[in-house]
Amino acid sequence: MCGIFGYSGTKECNDLIFQGLKRLEYRGYDSWGMAVLQGKKIHQYKDVGEIQGSAKLEKLPKGNIGIGHTRWATHGGVTKTNTHPHISTSGDFTLAQNGIVENFDELKQKLIKEGVKFISQTDTEVIVRLIERELKKRSLKDAIIHVFKKLKGRNTVVVLSNNDGKIYAVRNGSPLVIGVAKDGTYLASDTLSFSLATNKAILLENYDMVEIDGKSIEIFNILENRKKNVNTKELKHQFTQIEKGKFEHFMLKEIVDQKETLLFATEYTEKDLEPLIKEIKKGKRVYLIGAGTAGFSAGQVAYFLRNIAHIDAQEIRSYEFKAYLPIVKKGDIVIAFSQSGETADTIEAIEHMKEKGCKVASLVNMYGTAMSRLSDYEYYTNSGPEICVASTKVFTAQCAWGYLLSMSIAGKYRKARMNIKELSKDIAKLFTKKSFDEIKRVAEYMAKRESAFILGKGENAYIAFEGALKIKEISYKHVEGFAAGELKHGVIALIEKGSVVFGIIPSSESEDSSDLISAMEQVKTRGAFTVGIGSKEFSKMDLFDRYIVTEQVDNVSSISNAIPFQLISYFLSVRLGNNVDKPRNLAKSVTVK
Ligand code: AGP
Ligand code: GLU
Repeated sequence: MCGIFGYSGTKECNDLIFQGLKRLEYRGYDSWGMAVLQGKKIHQYKDVGEIQGSAKLEKLPKGNIGIGHTRWATHGGVTKTNTHPHISTSGDFTLAQNGIVENFDELKQKLIKEGVKFISQTDTEVIVRLIERELKKRSLKDAIIHVFKKLKGRNTVVVLSNNDGKIYAVRNGSPLVIGVAKDGTYLASDTLSFSLATNKAILLENYDMVEIDGKSIEIFNILENRKKNVNTKELKHQFTQIEKGKFEHFMLKEIVDQKETLLFATEYTEKDLEPLIKEIKKGKRVYLIGAGTAGFSAGQVAYFLRNIAHIDAQEIRSYEFKAYLPIVKKGDIVIAFSQSGETADTIEAIEHMKEKGCKVASLVNMYGTAMSRLSDYEYYTNSGPEICVASTKVFTAQCAWGYLLSMSIAGKYRKARMNIKELSKDIAKLFTKKSFDEIKRVAEYMAKRESAFILGKGENAYIAFEGALKIKEISYKHVEGFAAGELKHGVIALIEKGSVVFGIIPSSESEDSSDLISAMEQVKTRGAFTVGIGSKEFSKMDLFDRYIVTEQVDNVSSISNAIPFQLISYFLSVRLGNNVDKPRNLAKSVTVK
């Protein structure tokens, strides 16, 4: 994972890099470091923990060219020594890496036999030591190329050199984009981090090496051994607002954003959707893929496609794609869901399914990412930056887009737009003080319990899974989501006095509502603390200790049912004093396998 940021230009870079790293912090927040070139000397600053205290940076001499890194440790503990950038023994160059050098141990052992000494425990240092060795025989640029070709795994490296005052970077798998601004050249793991400076980006292919010095940009593909034309792309969308405004945390801001983001994701016209719909109509099967939360939206959209549009749709967790490959056929369609557009598991699945002859569509929130570039049909959730590591608004945006697609296939595009408009208006009722107080009461009860269960069925089964993941991620409580039918087949053994059980209750028009009520009766009988989320009709039943009403809109209510779980997760984590936006051990963009 990790975030890389670099700059070379006319502006003073220290603060630019610091601010860029802050915007990349969602990618990893174990430790961070910066290197700046002043005259012929590279100066470095490193710190452990969150990126803060720009005051401390005053010790770092100012310059116009430098690199920075925010780490999500994979090899070696979270220490200053292991923090990037890693400088060469002579101080001639310094290097930061994103990814994992899968063959690092083999390479390291060989170097140790040659008498090379290591300072850190990182796989990254192996790259530095290998480059140092090669420098005896070749230029820095050639040494980087030579060494990069030896690395196994999805890696990006960025190198600041004091000799020629340049930044070199090579990518393979892990993300890297170039931002072209009037004041100079930016280089980063995503376009969001430099979006305040420019919307002109150069999207790099695997094994592209970039060489920048503030005046010129050169791109060279190290596998094809050829210089490439520099193609600057003007990104249609640009993130200009990356602040949490009046909210205490990004998570709450992003939850409340959902009043609008459902609409942004479904602004596509029938004409925009037509090419994909045509493909689906002639396709044999639609596979919907994603990981984590995006895997659950894939499941939810598969539900919509099957039940609304009667399409043969199958969800796959992207890291399990191999289990399905034997039946994947030419002409099948893949729809990939991702906030970041860079998730390694999902990219790998796409690559394999493409090889099998599938057509690929993707729904991504970030711009200029690998996933969109791998796709035949690119769509965007357009939700604005989602900074909190736990995904909220992008999940519901993905579901809303999938709903629009399914309804359009069924010839009900206009109805879908109307329903989503109504839903957007209705969910605002969840963002009032009264509703927050009710939800806080549930969170208060949960604070004293170790675990909870969420039951859903049919249109709400994936909402139950996602609700559980959301609460787990930031409250660190053990919460499991189940299809309600599963209860009597085993889960009920876990229910005892005081167990927290949520039931997602659709309106009485759905056959599933009576099944949910029965399931809740069964747990209540065994002493559970029951919380209903859903249709108002059942809110006064004695069966429930607490009830959170969500507005039921036609066949799309499942989306609003997801929101109380996001809010419970938020208030519970605040109550427990957890780091809401940056939960322990997680990173927003999972670019390693
Ligand atoms: C979301 O709350 C999680 N942090 C995580 O499960 C995430 O959804 C998953 O890693 C996939 O990320 P993506 O959407 O960027 O592909
Ligand atoms: N593998 C490297 C490390 O553990 C880089 C990890 C990252 O991408 O942040 O330092």
